[in-house]
Amino acid sequence: MAAPDPAELPKIIDLASREAARYLESIADRNVRDPRAEEVAASFRGELLEDGVGAERALEELVAGIDGAVHSAGPRFFHFVNGGATPAALGADWLASALDQNTGAWVASPLGGELEWIALSWLRDLFGLPAEWGGVLTTGATMANFVALACARRWCGLRHGVDVDDVGLSGLPPIHVFGSGYVHPSDVKALGMLGIGRAQVHKLARDGIGRLDVEALDAALAELDGAPSIVIGSAGEVNAGDFDPIATMADLAERYGAWFHVDGAFGLFAALSDRTRHLVEGIERADSVIADGHKWLNVPYDCGFAFVRDPSLQPSVFGEGAAYLPALDDPKPNWGYLGPEMSRRCRAFAVWATLRAYGRNGHRAIVERSLDLAQRLAAMVDEADDLERLADVPLNIVCFRAHPRGVPEDRLDELNRRIAAAVIADGRVFFGATAYDGKAAFRPAPVNWRNRPEDMDLIATVVRELAAELAPTRSS
Ligand SMILES: Cc1ncc(COP(=O)(O)O)c(C=O)c1O
Repeated sequence: MAAPDPAELPKIIDLASREAARYLESIADRNVRDPRAEEVAASFRGELLEDGVGAERALEELVAGIDGAVHSAGPRFFHFVNGGATPAALGADWLASALDQNTGAWVASPLGGELEWIALSWLRDLFGLPAEWGGVLTTGATMANFVALACARRWCGLRHGVDVDDVGLSGLPPIHVFGSGYVHPSDVKALGMLGIGRAQVHKLARDGIGRLDVEALDAALAELDGAPSIVIGSAGEVNAGDFDPIATMADLAERYGAWFHVDGAFGLFAALSDRTRHLVEGIERADSVIADGHKWLNVPYDCGFAFVRDPSLQPSVFGEGAAYLPALDDPKPNWGYLGPEMSRRCRAFAVWATLRAYGRNGHRAIVERSLDLAQRLAAMVDEADDLERLADVPLNIVCFRAHPRGVPEDRLDELNRRIAAAVIADGRVFFGATAYDGKAAFRPAPVNWRNRPEDMDLIATVVRELAAELAPTRSS
């Protein structure tokens, strides 16, 4: 019978660290996805054992199955605007597992509790958000949106004289939510989970791309005649990295008394560079702002952050005590009373460590490197006669498609979708397809501190090669 034994720990930690180091050393030379990935993953299927195989063997099996993973920590994964993990963040995250801190209650980890407080204040400083705002670390941007929109929901209820966290939403008129066509699905999902309802989201787009119709937003807010509502600004949309006009939306929200929420899952990092800061001008006038940690901050999964202007809202929404739990008015931060989870992983270790290790300049350098790499790819696309850029590149996403000479417009979507599938199967680089202005397109995004110029060049090379292979001939 294999039961855990403290004596096995040194060997296990050594094995995990040796194999992880070996893996990470090799990651730049591996294809991003092994053609056998699904087969390798499926090889793990099997019944629960009565007697386990032991820790060493279990970990060896896991290591042997590494090709079932996608090597997204490496430099050539450009899908989904995913980040990597800086060395400091990775090391600190391992320590979070080793120390296994529960940062729900201050008493359970003063270190975790204090570092979350410090990490959040450093992040506010980094993004230019006011120091007195509330905040919390979450599992990612979806839950950060949930936290922010839960505070918005409470605020809307209070404007109607109702404590929705106590008595619920029934009896209240619908809460209308407005944004451009860029509103991210995670905001819509959060609104569904909050009982505000997905159907209350009104996307006021002035074109097929989704850009905000400012006049329509003005008119919609005016029509509400002061009834509380929520405006969502998108700081960095997922197809081309475009931004809603944040300052204009802040003006309108102020004029009509709406809650203004900004989803800056990756785009909030525009605040770090003089080259892009103008894109988020006005965020400090929002009521809530969120971003991801596991994207451009380059900390491991899972990590996001929510910031809320009125720090009294979070404890009212998320504080729920019990005799065995800390007092609700405990002056120390009990993070389980400020966000959805009670027991929670110590995400602060990784956030604190990467900010401490590399500082403002190091993280600005990561952002500016991504900006440069995106411009490099954009220039390659522009120079190639068989590639077509579909959008400006204000940030780090390059939206383009293959457009080989002679292929008619009505065959391009099918061709580009086939290329997208072939890119994943090919495995040298990795990115996905989208629909941009009704056209099938690619949207690779450098966000990982490991991305290099040659990795960007390979994106263009692979697409051109696959396009030449897959393009319909006159007879097909
Ligand atoms: C703008 C935006 N908001 C929210 C999210 C959701 O983030 P997460 O997957 O970390 O929950 C994303 C993720 O891609 C995003 O790009």
